[in-house]
Parts: sequence; structure tokens; C-alpha cells
Amino acid sequence: MTIDPTTQTLAQLGDATPEKVAARFAEVRARFEEQAVVHSAKKDAEEWKSFVVAWTGRKSGVLTNIGDNWLKPAPKELKPLVGQEFQKLKAHVEATLEEKRKEIEAAAEQATAARDQVDLSLPGVERTIGTRHIIRQTFDELLRIFLSIGFSVVEGPEIETPYYNFEALNIPEHHPARDNMDTFYIEGSSAGHLLRTHTSPMQIRTMEKQAPPVRIVVPGKVYRRDNPDSTHGYMFHQIEGLAVDTDITFCDFKGTVEYFVREFLGPKAKTRLRPSYFPFTEPSAEVDATCHVCGGTGCRVCKFSGWIELFGAGMVNPAVYGFVKYDAEKLSGFAFGMGVDRLAMMKYGITELPLLFQNDVRFLRQFP
Ligand code: PHE
Repeated sequence: MTIDPTTQTLAQLGDATPEKVAARFAEVRARFEEQAVVHSAKKDAEEWKSFVVAWTGRKSGVLTNIGDNWLKPAPKELKPLVGQEFQKLKAHVEATLEEKRKEIEAAAEQATAARDQVDLSLPGVERTIGTRHIIRQTFDELLRIFLSIGFSVVEGPEIETPYYNFEALNIPEHHPARDNMDTFYIEGSSAGHLLRTHTSPMQIRTMEKQAPPVRIVVPGKVYRRDNPDSTHGYMFHQIEGLAVDTDITFCDFKGTVEYFVREFLGPKAKTRLRPSYFPFTEPSAEVDATCHVCGGTGCRVCKFSGWIELFGAGMVNPAVYGFVKYDAEKLSGFAFGMGVDRLAMMKYGITELPLLFQNDVRFLRQFP
């Protein structure tokens, strides 16, 4: 193993002439050049660090060694030369290291930039866009039909007072429709607040606020204490309709209903009105349509009757006008309330109501 000459004094090395001193410095410089080439190519942070320390380390770096072993103990006549050579070497080493440090830094920066660069030619991340829920689609379809014949859309609160949900709709306290078995009451409400059982309260709220004529449809959620099964839940959707004016007749009612049924189920659908009862309409009717599956000849879907029950309706009971200070002598109108879930199930052949609310994409995807 060769001894590092910088750990020995010039006297020990036998360098007593300026030529020999200069040669000695040249040798060290050549060694540095050789190593510098290797280290700039490698770009290994740890190796680079030990290279820097080997040359400039304060304790036993080459430069320190030369200062300690060559310069300090140098004989008087050689000292200026050793000093000069030492400063040259030192400046060279330090400048070279600084230059290389900058190069390494720049290369690292470039590598990061390259890694962060966005490649616009790569295919994008495809996000699946959902579809409108089949209930939403049905709402939109129903509303489109009524908007096209001059109705406008209003919405109302799902938490109602008994006055709007019952009383003003001519359903007094003792009426069987108020049986609290059918209704969710809000606990602790001194006003007896409840979840609306139908969208009909918006008939009252609208007429209270607005002078006739009125032509509105009201989409929304309603709640009833039904036992859940394949056609019942605690919540379902309705669209209420109300038309009041000075000259609305039963013919207008029937014509509107027939127009709606043909728009919704197709031009071949026929309509039938069956007598029914609602406290807020008089006369009241159930609207039936010819079965959309068999066209009226009878099948499993219509239970071989040829008819499908669609919704409840009727001419506005004049008693209701009394609650909203409308003139019952001059005004007349009709109202209807349809179950959106029912209509969707019927039209699209869905047999299980819960499927509409389970958000299973395998089901929902069938209605793109
Ligand atoms: N509100 C009634 C129901 O929920 C439906 C209806 C509305 C009937 C308007 C007649 C007129 O059963």
C-alpha cells in the first residue's frame, strides 16, 4: 500500500527543490482531475459527498493535509512557492467542486421536471357519468306533458301542519282519513306538525297566495305509515295538479286527463273514469287507462280486466274554496294526484317498489 504523500512533510518526501515541489503539486492536481471525472459521471449523492470530504474535509482532507504537512513545516526558502502552489490548487479544487455541485443540482431539477411533466398524448381517465334515476326520468316526462299545456310547477314543504294536510282540504278532525295510523307526526311539535301524506296541501297554499286563475303541478315526496312490501314504502312520490278558473267544466277535466294519458302511454290508450271519493273533490274519480301491455284484451298485468288504475282526481269541492277565500259561486276547477312510483313501475314493468330506492346500479343501468 502506497502512503499518501500529503500525510508526510516535503522533507520526509525528499522534495528540496522548487522543481520537485512543483511536480508534487502537479501530481496531486492530476489525481484530483482523475477522481473528479469519475464522480461527476456517477451522480450518486453519498459517493459525491465522500469525494468532497476527502478533498476539502477540515480534519484530514487533502487540502488540510497539504496545509499542515507541506506548507507549515516548509523550509524558509521554499515556503513562498509552496504557499503559491497551495493557493492555486485550493482555488482550483474549490471552483471545480462548486461547478460540479451546480451541475448535479441542475440535473436533479431536470429529472424532477421530466417526471412531473404531463403527457397530453396519454388517454384520459374515464369517469362514468351516472344516468338520471328512473323516478327522476318519470317526473321529467310527467312535468313535460303538463308544462306543454300551460301548467307551471310549484313545490312545497314536506313537513306540514294538520290544517294544510287535512282541515283546509275538507278533512275534519274525526274523518277516517286522519287516522293517525296512516300519518307520521313530528314528536314534540305543539302545532301537531306531520310529514305530508299527499301533495294536496299545496293546492291550499297556492290558492291562499295567488288569485285565480291557477294552473299548477306539484312534484314531491309524501309519507305514509304503510307496511313495506313490493308496492308500498314509508315514502313515495306524487304529482299534484290543480286548475281553477271561471269557466272550467267537467269536459275540461276529462279532456285534460285523456290528453295526459295518451301522451304518457301512447296514442292508442283509452281512458275511463270510475266514481270515487275524496273529501276535497266532488265528484271524485279514479282514472283508469287501457292496459299498456295487452291493449285492453286482458292479461296478467291488468289481472285480465283490460284496465289499469292510474290516479285519483275530481272537480274541486266548493267547500275547499271557502278555506282560501275564493268565490265558490264564480269559480270551478279540477284536481288530480298521481303516484309517480306507481306510474313508473307500470310503464316500465317494474314489479318491486324497493328496487327504486336501493340504488343498485345493475337495476338503474337498465334505464339509461
Ligand atoms: N291527494 C289524493 C291522494 O293522495 C289524490 C288526489 C289529489 C285526489 C287531488 C283528488 C284530487 O290520495
